[in-house]
Amino acid sequence: MKNIGLIGCGNIAETYFRAQDYFNNINFIACADKFSEAAKKCADQYKIKSLTVDEILNDSDVDVILNLTIPQAHYEISKLALESGKHVYSEKPMSIKYEEAKELVDLANKNNLYIGNAPDTFLGGGGQVARQFVDRDNIGQVLTGNFIFAFPGVQEFHPNPDSWFQSGGGPVIDMGPYFFTTLVNLLGPAKNVRSRGKKFSNQRNYLVGPKKGQSFDVEISTSVMFDVEFENEAIVQGFISFDVQNHARNHMELYGTKGSIVVPDPNMFGGPVLLSRELGSEWQEISVEDKYLGKTNIVNHSGRSNEAPKQSNYRGVGLSEMIYSIENKKQHRCNGNLALHVLDIIESTIIASETKKEINLRSTCNQPIPLTEEEVKLLLKDK
Ligand SMILES: NC(=O)c1ccc[n+]([C@@H]2O[C@H](COP(=O)([O-])OP(=O)(O)OC[C@H]3O[C@@H](n4cnc5c(N)ncnc54)[C@H](O)[C@@H]3O)[C@@H](O)[C@H]2O)c1
Repeated sequence: MKNIGLIGCGNIAETYFRAQDYFNNINFIACADKFSEAAKKCADQYKIKSLTVDEILNDSDVDVILNLTIPQAHYEISKLALESGKHVYSEKPMSIKYEEAKELVDLANKNNLYIGNAPDTFLGGGGQVARQFVDRDNIGQVLTGNFIFAFPGVQEFHPNPDSWFQSGGGPVIDMGPYFFTTLVNLLGPAKNVRSRGKKFSNQRNYLVGPKKGQSFDVEISTSVMFDVEFENEAIVQGFISFDVQNHARNHMELYGTKGSIVVPDPNMFGGPVLLSRELGSEWQEISVEDKYLGKTNIVNHSGRSNEAPKQSNYRGVGLSEMIYSIENKKQHRCNGNLALHVLDIIESTIIASETKKEINLRSTCNQPIPLTEEEVKLLLKDK
């Protein structure tokens, strides 16, 4: 069990507090935000201490800082945490700049501290069962594939969508971590990217909250198309967009020499995984409802922006597994090298779209080790 100090009491904080009910080693004791009102509200609701950022970093009872600030603040807050001698687990992406994230990984190593990063969704039943099909040669060698995340944009549900549309924001920074982490889990590290991005308008309107009806500036490409080549020679095409009203494509499909799979939503933990080994054959549907982290745990829409009506959401397992790893002196799955490589892919797609050139990645990482049901059980409160 470790004591957690949370910095960034916004939208996603509630989902992490829920993780305390699922996992046996997460204990929130304090929270902070640059707006003290946000921290006070959160502290009152969850009966923990409300502190300033400085106070939480210097609180000797806090073992791990959970960084739930906006992407543009991740580097600053994670760096302060590591300099204060705290382990840190951050929401995605690790930073908005590769060089900054690399500095964080180096700093954590130097200070003998753990640095962990979301997304942890690939540890869910959907991601792990898909991984088994790839590893056990059910579809042969994966040669190609594609994925899509496309919707009208964060302004649809978020009262403060501005940061998603400013430099350091954008659809690839926001959603790329889920898709690229899932691909690295399934295929291993990538080696180069090509990309094309476009900004279709300079302004958007707030659609919810107190600023509804007013407009804000758009600084970044809101639609990006790319292809990624992996070290194992697979090539995968992707499309991430805040410009699509609706679509009917699968989240991700991978095509191997012996068959194809449909990988479930990389933004969530559930399934099913679809498998087909023959042209024109029925798709076999493999449920993951019997997996600890695949079972549907949300049946009515909770109002949480990141959840569909029926979902499996076990966000926080990456934090829990990091705490377990700290206590057992092991390498954690959602580690700094994986997150750094994913950020390298993200930043390289942005550079590739600007320069119109193929970009070789600077980094590599180990493919995460599959997470077994026995290992998940060690983290759960109710088995
Ligand atoms: N909202 C979602 O559905 C969702 C889902 C998964 C992951 N995430 C990720 O979680 C992170 C937070 O997202 P959110 O939707 O909760 O954002 P948010 O804007 O609702 O909340 C962020 C909070 O961080 C605070 N903050 C910003 N900079 C700070 C600083 N320098 N010091 C202290 N506090 C600071 C803000 O005041 C705000 O309260 C992002 O990285 C996002 O990508 C969000």
